[in-house]
Amino acid sequence: MRLILLGPPGAGKGTQAEILKEKLGIPHISTGDMLRQVLKEDSPLSKKVKRFVERGELVPDEIILEIMKQRLSSADTEKGFILDGFPRTIKQAQGLEQLLKKMNKQIDLVLYFATSVEKIIERLSGRLVCSRCGMNYHLKNMPPKEEGVCDKCGGELSQREDDQEETVRKRIDVYLKQTAELIEFYKSKGILRTLDANRDAQEVYKELIRLFEKEGFNLKSNDFHKISERAESHA
Ligand code: AP5
Repeated sequence: MRLILLGPPGAGKGTQAEILKEKLGIPHISTGDMLRQVLKEDSPLSKKVKRFVERGELVPDEIILEIMKQRLSSADTEKGFILDGFPRTIKQAQGLEQLLKKMNKQIDLVLYFATSVEKIIERLSGRLVCSRCGMNYHLKNMPPKEEGVCDKCGGELSQREDDQEETVRKRIDVYLKQTAELIEFYKSKGILRTLDANRDAQEVYKELIRLFEKEGFNLKSNDFHKISERAESHA
């Protein structure tokens, strides 16, 4: 299955992608995570990318498309993938189409996470991220079992630099100006499905599973319970 998770910052794309990747057995590909990895390096690319991410602006399409070209040619994407945070502009969407066409592949579904601005601010101001494995938490909605420590790997939890309120507002603005038009782009292709992402993570997850079943994707019901445990424990 080849999926795109589309939606504003803080919509819960990364949270659902982490659960779905286990359920579906396909990789979660987040351009945000990939860029944060690049930022840890001391390289010309890192210097170029830094100023855009810090300001909450989009990194230029050429850079993103080159990164994705390499990532999508990896063997682990053969059975499918979950794209999170990509594409973010019409140019990126067209670039993705061309890339996939060369591989004789296409996107099956675009899942649009509809979320209100109040929810976005509330979620991002409380988000904590593991510095080691990247797992997401929320101070109130999805707290770790032990304060400041990742449940999964024991790494230290901290706030993302671009989750400061001023940068979050900028990211929302950028989303509305440059990314929201992708909703119409994919709607016109008949592959966009909208989810109410204002609800808690367990509800959103259940709606996703219902949607896959309605669309005819064959999901094994026996591992549903196991995989939904994390969402349930945070509900
Ligand atoms: P990126 O990392 O992609 O950030 P984003 O799209 O702004 O998305 P977020 O990670 O903030 O939100 P999310 O929807 O994944 O929510 P999450 O699940 O974490 O991009 C960062 C930057 O990189 C960009 O600003 C840009 O500069 C650059 N960039 C990246 N991709 C690019 C591209 N393609 N082109 C150009 N530039 C690019 O959830 C948020 C919080 O809410 C968490 O604390 C979580 O625990 C909690 N939560 C999640 N779901 C729920 C729920 N249902 N109920 C309650 N709480 C919830």
